[in-house]
Amino acid sequence: MQPPSMYSKEIVNHFRNPRNVGRIRKANGIGKAGNLLCGDLMKLYLNVGLSKKGLKVIKDIKFETFGCIVAISNSSMLTTMVKGRTIEEAAAITKDDLVQKLGKPLPQIKLHCSLLAVDALHEAIYDYYAKAQLPIPEELEKEHQRIQKSLHTIEERHKEFVEFEEKLLKGP
Ligand code: FES
Repeated sequence: MQPPSMYSKEIVNHFRNPRNVGRIRKANGIGKAGNLLCGDLMKLYLNVGLSKKGLKVIKDIKFETFGCIVAISNSSMLTTMVKGRTIEEAAAITKDDLVQKLGKPLPQIKLHCSLLAVDALHEAIYDYYAKAQLPIPEELEKEHQRIQKSLHTIEERHKEFVEFEEKLLKGP
């Protein structure tokens, strides 16, 4: 079957053969992020260790994404971009870096999907700093506040939706 023309070959490739899917049992950094526009969720697991030079390096990374084609392919692509990199290099990756790697520009309506993977990565790095009791960079702290606010909103909406459904099921 031909890939839908709105997506690049890279996107279709990562969607069909996602890399680094799953969990890391003893992850030392775990991040969760949600997309405010659609409610999709992603969880990302990191295993950060020291390199021979004493740098904090992402030795392993895995993800679980409940989302669309773009969200899944972006998650996969991002894991391949940061595996083996230092956490400082990984934290500096932006949504635009990721979109560029995926080739053909995304349709406007799908641009928000790229943020999910980057947010989950930033949260996992934040979690690593917190667990290791290391000072958290200011920019990461700001990101963390924003991402947590979005997650809270998504959870509230989900709760309202479930309550609404339960009411409907009970009937008048
Ligand atoms: Fe939700 Fe793409 S539609 S992340």
